[in-house]
Amino acid sequence: MIILAIESSCDDSAVCIIKYTVNNDISINQNKITLNDIKRDEYQILSHYMYSQIKDHQIFKGVMPELASFLHTNKLKHLIQISLQKANIDINEIDCVAATAGPGLIGSLMVGTTYAKTLASILNKPYIAINHLEAHALSPMINSNLQAPYLLLLVSGGHSQFIIVEKIGKYKLLGKTYDDAVGECFDKVARLLGLEYPGGPAIEKAAINGNCKKFTFPIAAPEKLEHGCNMSFSGIKTFALNLTKKMTKEELDLNINNIAASFQDGIAQNLCYKANIAMDMYKKEIQIQKDQLNFVIAGGVASNEYIRNKLSELALNRGFNIFQPEKELCTDNAIMVAFTAAQYFKHNITHTLNFAPRSKWPLQELNEL
Ligand code: KG4
Ligand code: ZN
Repeated sequence: MIILAIESSCDDSAVCIIKYTVNNDISINQNKITLNDIKRDEYQILSHYMYSQIKDHQIFKGVMPELASFLHTNKLKHLIQISLQKANIDINEIDCVAATAGPGLIGSLMVGTTYAKTLASILNKPYIAINHLEAHALSPMINSNLQAPYLLLLVSGGHSQFIIVEKIGKYKLLGKTYDDAVGECFDKVARLLGLEYPGGPAIEKAAINGNCKKFTFPIAAPEKLEHGCNMSFSGIKTFALNLTKKMTKEELDLNINNIAASFQDGIAQNLCYKANIAMDMYKKEIQIQKDQLNFVIAGGVASNEYIRNKLSELALNRGFNIFQPEKELCTDNAIMVAFTAAQYFKHNITHTLNFAPRSKWPLQELNEL
């Protein structure tokens, strides 16, 4: 089976063509797809191309939604053409077309889903609408032997959540941010420091030459324990704002790397603090053997080496196996969209062309699929 998948939820236009062989051993139950069904060696990525719009948006120090839609419109046709060439297949060999249908920027989603639906309609092949968060959630399975259930920390530009992944389509939210997402916080603090967009990679780079002990960013206080593993990053952001406001231009220039390193450390400490609580909650909810405790991080922020290391240390101490996707699979890409589409397609779950893209689409709503 060959699936062509499109990702266009924000500022990356991406196309992936994936091939998978159907494993007859899998018992198919349309209402109960278990992640344990996945056999990674069944999958072959025939091609994957991406046009990152980062440079186009940098002048605005953030994503300009109208420009993002315009660029998706311009770039996707070419990306589809070269993906087909590289995969060395004829367009009629495609068995199914998938696209990210939410959550994300509605204009960007409309462009990608319209391309996918048009292609599906012309080829008379099924269409699958993919939830972007689910694609991130399943991304650690692409190149590992990870099996559900697992505890997921999803940290991206728009979301920061602790989730129990029970099976495909069955996700339980344990906690989420009350305010900014972690990636958003990285982007805003980078802007304060005069670093380029996106802020995450810029701060990570600056932090390499900084002293993370120079400034002490606030950590979630113990008295907030009643908030479980819900998170808040506005305190860290305000701390960065007040810190930079107090400095002269010279002081700020001298301390950019130190603030970046201290901020990154503050975020890592906060995530570890909350992950520790989430691990307790997970253990209570899921009665499983100690050697099956899996902790997974995914989303753009999960590509941060410092945060990966800190969370790995915590997982090790807590007796959890840690799974982190390769860095290219953490940030937005069409491979994870194709992989997720394959799980649905192999269980004959497809969508009609009336399925409208949605700017908001919580994972928990997928139960209804
Ligand atoms: O998952 P993603 O590519 O897109 C969304 O679904 O939002 O995540 C993008 C976010 C941005 O806020 C970006 O600054 C952040 O992930 N990010 C990072 C790093 N790379 C990307 N944050 C921290 N460190 C990084 N290396
Ligand atoms: Zn994403």
